[in-house]
Amino acid sequence: MPNQINPSQIMQIGMGFWASKTLLSAVKLGLFTHLNGTPLTAQELGDRMGLHKRGTVDFFDTLVSLGLLQREGNGENARYTNTPETALFLDKDRPEYIGGVLEMANDRLYPFWGNLEEGLKTGQPQNEIKQRGENFFEGLYSDPERLRQFMEAMSAVQMGNFITLAEKFDFSPYHTLCDLGGAAGLLSIQVASRHPHMQCLSFDLPPVEPIARENIAKSGLAARVTAVAGNFFEDPIPRADVITMGNVLHDWNLENKKLLIQKAYNALPEGGALIVIENIIDDERRENTFGLLMSLNMLIEVGDGFDFTKADFDSWAKEIGFQKTKVMPLTGPASAVIAYK
Ligand SMILES: C[S@@+](CC[C@H](N)C(=O)[O-])C[C@H]1O[C@@H](n2cnc3c(N)ncnc32)[C@H](O)[C@@H]1O
Repeated sequence: MPNQINPSQIMQIGMGFWASKTLLSAVKLGLFTHLNGTPLTAQELGDRMGLHKRGTVDFFDTLVSLGLLQREGNGENARYTNTPETALFLDKDRPEYIGGVLEMANDRLYPFWGNLEEGLKTGQPQNEIKQRGENFFEGLYSDPERLRQFMEAMSAVQMGNFITLAEKFDFSPYHTLCDLGGAAGLLSIQVASRHPHMQCLSFDLPPVEPIARENIAKSGLAARVTAVAGNFFEDPIPRADVITMGNVLHDWNLENKKLLIQKAYNALPEGGALIVIENIIDDERRENTFGLLMSLNMLIEVGDGFDFTKADFDSWAKEIGFQKTKVMPLTGPASAVIAYK
């Protein structure tokens, strides 16, 4: 019956954490890296991963049914291989590896989202800083391993967006770029590698600078990309023709968002551009599920930080003095919103 309503969508979403945690565990346990190139039986693969035999066949076949593994044959002698996608993106030995964000999701976000109800009732963060009341980044960066994992996660999430921005945005009228909260320097590297006339600064907190410096050195672009240590609330923002902020504004409450937009405005020349790369929510707040979930994730991570729509950004930018704004879709749920001075 075409109009018959049924509960399958409710059940699929309600039990969605089963599938999610199965993938996160596979990434964490290095399953896709163990399979690089070699078809393996369940026993061989389980042995390499150090798994108890009770769960192996269920674990691997669940991934087959989710389209995240391939299996040739049935029964004990069946052999498992990666799909084209998992071979490219989830093998740790490949430069295209995007598992960093999934490892962080497994280790941090998955347990912290278990306290979503408490976050909804109190408006307070539910992560490492829950008990200690410190700044999110101070808390995160006090452990070098967590800092490294966070940087890898950020790079994995934004790689496609930064490449698309570097290819689609017209950098020809500009010469200098400053990426505020530039993390591992990825945006600056992508822009500099495609636009030989651009000089880029990646600006971030002191513990992040050595990581950016190392990445910039590896990219061979050190002559045109510089890592700068600073605090964008306390220090002056370097002057540049283009100022970028990737997933920075959503970390902060409205007052701090406006302060950062104002500081960017002050550091730009007439005609300069502020580019904000985030999971910009559609103006009616109905469509961009990932952007809306990201805003809940900001509740879990920082409490009063939140994601926003193009209309929100437009009103803040115009209030501060920008002439016009426009939106540029990037990959998946992410867009750039651009404000011109
Ligand atoms: C969510 S991450 C986004 C990183 C990167 N822009 C991206 O798009 O993947 C936010 C970044 O802002 C940086 N940050 C936070 N507070 C800062 C401050 N007060 N001054 C400078 N950078 C800061 C963090 O260290 C982190 O790298």
